Amino acid sequence: MPITLTINPTRRAVVCLAAGAAGSLALTPLAARAQGAPSGQKLKIATIGAGREGGALGSLFVKEGHAVMFSSRHPEQLKDFVIGLGPLARAGTVAEAVAFGDVVLLVVPYSAVAEIGKEHGAALAAKKLVIDVSNPIARRDGDELVKQVNDAGGAGLATQKALPGAHIVRGFNAIGFAQLATLAHRPGDPAAVPIAGDDKDALNLASTLIKEIGFEPVVVGGMAMGKYLNVGTPLAGVHTPAEVQQIAATLK
Ligand SMILES: NC(=O)c1ccc[n+]([C@@H]2O[C@H](COP(=O)([O-])OP(=O)(O)OC[C@H]3O[C@@H](n4cnc5c(N)ncnc54)[C@H](OP(=O)(O)O)[C@@H]3O)[C@@H](O)[C@H]2O)c1
Repeated sequence: MPITLTINPTRRAVVCLAAGAAGSLALTPLAARAQGAPSGQKLKIATIGAGREGGALGSLFVKEGHAVMFSSRHPEQLKDFVIGLGPLARAGTVAEAVAFGDVVLLVVPYSAVAEIGKEHGAALAAKKLVIDVSNPIARRDGDELVKQVNDAGGAGLATQKALPGAHIVRGFNAIGFAQLATLAHRPGDPAAVPIAGDDKDALNLASTLIKEIGFEPVVVGGMAMGKYLNVGTPLAGVHTPAEVQQIAATLK
């Protein structure tokens, strides 16, 4: 069920470590069990978009033992890729992936989000979680699309508008595909994944999954904060959880 984050008007952002730190959305093992997503439970994961980022991110879930369906409008082109990942990976059309996944990773050029919403919005609204990794980028998606997204309140609120009723969390938006495998489970301070969303259960499930693949989720606020996760923002790139907290506290 969607929730409204409690934002102290004197603070510009709600920031809490999703696991272990104080905060209304902090995830505890008990809370995780209550959400029906204990750490280690294997879910069916679907990717809409299996390009550079979708392919790399989905591969991390395969490594952790989840069944993953990678999708494309041309699934036959993913054949060798999924064979290389082993029996937990498969390829399908977007419709097949949407039907397959308990959790859906949306990893497409932002200009495709509205179309995907029109075609698959009802099915996506029935999923436990949609992780929105997509960014509006003018040189790829066009100035007009970027303007529309900004007018809607930025990526995040715009994705929620395109996928009404979906349990969306934005995350992984500005961690480059080539770094994902080496950052996962890195020694020392984990690499942080800033996340934003309005749905407590979806945030909890996203946090569980992000920890499982070897990153530390940091909730930076509600969906309105989703625009600050894009490439080119201060939160972009690789940061420790403490750094993400510090940066997020400076954002409006
Ligand atoms: N590259 C990165 O390091 C990175 C990091 C963080 C976030 N992101 C974001 O992730 C998204 C994808 O980036 P990418 O670099 O992975 O792009 P990419 O390599 O070009 O892959 C794009 C994927 O989107 C699919 N797609 C495109 N239009 C579609 C549509 N209308 N319906 C369904 N699928 C569609 C493509 O599948 P088809 O086979 O059907 O064409 C392809 O699998 C972008 O929004 C990007 O900003 C990228």
